[in-house]
Amino acid sequence: MKNLIGLDKAKTQVLATKLNELLADYQLFYQNLRGFHWNIKGRDFFELHVKFEEFYDDAVIKVDEIAERILTLEAEPLHTFSDYLKTATIKEAKGVSDGSKAVKAVVENFATLITLEREILALAGDAQDEGTVSLMSDYIAQTEKTLWMLNSYLK
Ligand SMILES: [Fe+2]
Repeated sequence: MKNLIGLDKAKTQVLATKLNELLADYQLFYQNLRGFHWNIKGRDFFELHVKFEEFYDDAVIKVDEIAERILTLEAEPLHTFSDYLKTATIKEAKGVSDGSKAVKAVVENFATLITLEREILALAGDAQDEGTVSLMSDYIAQTEKTLWMLNSYLK
């Protein structure tokens, strides 16, 4: 059985479930970044305050892209905090004000995201879902570069 955009329905549903996990992870990540942006203290305040804002501005764009991809695949995106908390792998970061600790947490969160993105890339390839493949390829390449820069910062 094919859906409206010509993809296998069963494979697409599996893909949508994984995309909802990614959506939940991005929502947790977004809120973690907000906390770091607000609570960071110390000599790197100005640099990190701005950097975390850049990251959450990017995360919020991805949240919308992922949700709308899920809808394009004829499934429903999760949209409540309770569902995000139940579904996400990324954990809430609370009360972090130390710059290095915040950057380390961001690196860990990005590593969680990129692992799931690679999994979705493989599933999308198998389902011949080029739209999701291209979305994941862009996210992966961008995150890899960001991880290199964050790791350089931590040296
Ligand atoms: Fe702000």
